[in-house]
Amino acid sequence: MHLHKFEKIWLAFGLGSLVLFLAIIGFAAFWKGAHPQSHIETIDPQNVEAHEAFKPENLGLREVADGKYTVNIVASAFNYDFGVDDDGKPVKKIRVPKGSTVLFQITTKDVIHGFQVAGTNVNMMVEPGHVSRLETVMKNTGEFTVVCNEYCGIGHHQMFATVEVYE
Ligand code: CUA
Repeated sequence: MHLHKFEKIWLAFGLGSLVLFLAIIGFAAFWKGAHPQSHIETIDPQNVEAHEAFKPENLGLREVADGKYTVNIVASAFNYDFGVDDDGKPVKKIRVPKGSTVLFQITTKDVIHGFQVAGTNVNMMVEPGHVSRLETVMKNTGEFTVVCNEYCGIGHHQMFATVEVYE
């Protein structure tokens, strides 16, 4: 069988890419220990209030230690529930000081939503039946918009909030 020169080049390129790809995956998995999440917490999406973090009175921002915060959120079509303020109005903005450690805990009552704090490394998928968690340090000041980045229906674009990091 005769192989054209370009066929040989592309075959080598293809094989090389495959080997490189497997090597990177292998390196990440076995040397770096990057495995899929194994301690996934499940929750009944019909009854998220049964979970301590998602009881109505526990939603929103809470300072758990000096400079450490937890934010509990229940997503649903088409809203992020951060609880209510002292006037009983839904909270749409949370404020934390610069340098604080913030743990976001979020779940959904209905369909898959996204939870992205644009301009930070916070970007999670929120799946019914699961609790999504991400802890981050808020290094930069500013107003960051929370957006849903999983298309969830007609009101998808109405799902937003704000995280303000102040000096
Ligand atoms: Cu919720 Cu898109």
